[in-house]
Amino acid sequence: MTEALSTPTDPADHPVPPTAPGADLFSKFDALIAEREALLDTGVRDPFGVVMEKVLSPTLAIVRGKETILLGTYNYMGMTFDPDVIEAGKQALDEFGSGTTGSRVLNGTYQGHKECEEALKDFYGTAHAMVFSTGYQANLGLMSTIAGKEDYIILDADSHASIYDGCALGNAQIVRFRHNNVEDLEKRLKRLPAEGGRLVVLEGVYSMLGDIAPLKEMVEVSKRHGAMVAVDEAHGMGFFGANGRGVFEEAGVEDQVDFVVGTFSKSVGTVGGFIVSNHPKFEVLRLVCRPYVFTASLPPSVVATAATSIRKLKYAGNKRAHLWENSKRMHQGLRDLGFTLATPEAQSAIIAILLPDQDVTVRMWQALLEAGVYVNMARPPATPAGMYLLRCSLCADHTSEQVGDILAMFESAGKAIGYLS
Ligand SMILES: Cc1ncc(COP(=O)(O)O)c(C=O)c1O
Repeated sequence: MTEALSTPTDPADHPVPPTAPGADLFSKFDALIAEREALLDTGVRDPFGVVMEKVLSPTLAIVRGKETILLGTYNYMGMTFDPDVIEAGKQALDEFGSGTTGSRVLNGTYQGHKECEEALKDFYGTAHAMVFSTGYQANLGLMSTIAGKEDYIILDADSHASIYDGCALGNAQIVRFRHNNVEDLEKRLKRLPAEGGRLVVLEGVYSMLGDIAPLKEMVEVSKRHGAMVAVDEAHGMGFFGANGRGVFEEAGVEDQVDFVVGTFSKSVGTVGGFIVSNHPKFEVLRLVCRPYVFTASLPPSVVATAATSIRKLKYAGNKRAHLWENSKRMHQGLRDLGFTLATPEAQSAIIAILLPDQDVTVRMWQALLEAGVYVNMARPPATPAGMYLLRCSLCADHTSEQVGDILAMFESAGKAIGYLS
């Protein structure tokens, strides 16, 4: 028996409209559906269908009735249950209602959206901040709006889907360089014609392997070749730099970066996205950026939780220090057990374990879940170079005891499936 995508229902209750033979638009997915069914028929759980029945804290949830340690969320700074954050959300819900029912440029900008933008400006020390409904939309908006058809976007081959999708939505010419390769970036920049604007798009932390970009060198090369620079700090915000701004702060290139893109769905602990910048003409984006204009704004409770969380993240030095301890200990512990890791040392809060194929990866993932720890399974096409990964994301709220328990579970799961001897 396979676990269905949703609760099985009697087909008689949901008749499918007739479709001419060969005209079912879903037939292009047949190979994927068959592959998925074959995998689930082996008796494994669906790695992409886990349900959190109850969430007890940033690091603990109930999954299938069992208390489970969360090691596969992006809740790096553990802000989702912060009492001040929760209180701010409740108050905004009471005072402003459940949603704005409108775009930022019409009825969808409330006091809370402006306060959230003020909190971002203060956090990043920038003149401007623009809040979007998701980080995905912030990237869609920046890539598709800022670079026109005479311009070039130069991006890392391992860029997040939202960066690629933003390029696809716009008209700029796209040039890719090899992941984190400064020489290749420079080679591509040198080949560009003199005419046309240039935007180099980088990420502080790459989320599949947890590696960080050599931003100092990349930004220097980009500026030398006349490019504007955008850095996506989705996975760096909160954790890197003295103020938690991201890898670009730690790399000392704040005054060289034109745009920082970020999300509220990771360290901030809610949902939403943003761009910050010092560019004097930045505010014009509010009029021309389609993923900002043509969608509803975030609910008041969400912007209130985001603003409160951002204000606290600035002063979360102790949490940053504990998160580094957790990440380094997990990296060392997994290596000592004999796992192959994607980075030679802990570079971020993400530690990716490389496994040989889908079968081992799914069995390991399931053995861990049964032992009581949830991690992310990642596979092509989301991963670079056809890799199969188990991705662990540490949280500042993981206790030392939890980290020890997690390592013990990795050891027993690895032995149980015959991967570790
Ligand atoms: C690098 C990067 N950019 C942008 C996003 C999109 O963020 P959001 O979840 O807010 O849409 C993500 C989310 O996974 C990401 O990893």
